Amino acid sequence: MKNTLLMSCAAILSLGACSTGPSTQVGQDLYEQHCASCHGADARGGAQIPDLRTIASRAGGIYPQMRVLDKLDGYARGQRAYDGVEMPDFGMLLIGPLDRVETDDGLSRPLPETILALEAYLRSIQE
Ligand code: HEC
Repeated sequence: MKNTLLMSCAAILSLGACSTGPSTQVGQDLYEQHCASCHGADARGGAQIPDLRTIASRAGGIYPQMRVLDKLDGYARGQRAYDGVEMPDFGMLLIGPLDRVETDDGLSRPLPETILALEAYLRSIQE
């Protein structure tokens, strides 16, 4: 049922009839598949794994959208949130159609829909 709903929403989105921006539900599904094993189902992280609900509060209350996008699309490779363990590269997630995102710095940037959905989900869970 959930999959059917998702698929029809994806069909509507591809027709351009429903431009609600990246889907946090798609992002949550991707999160559960690729990220929860380390960051936890509730995104609280653990030893040497950042709590993804506190990205904004740890950045002085301002959610660092560009930094999160850079982390997800691999631009920030080698830049770690903490010393120690480094997050693996998620190149497979880059496969798929691109969408443009208006970033906080006023620029427009093309990025894979998967990355945008993941970023929207992470933004939605900030405390
Ligand atoms: C193998 C474990 C592992 C997996 C899987 C993983 N991460 Fe991470 N992640 C880490 C570690 C360790 C760090 C801290 C070091 C770093 O920044 O590379 C981190 C850092 C991050 C940061 C930066 C946090 C901050 O405070 O700036 C974000 C955002 C993030 N991960 C999102 C994700 C998303 C989204 C996924 C799924 C696509 C994912 N991670 C999958 C281990 C993982």
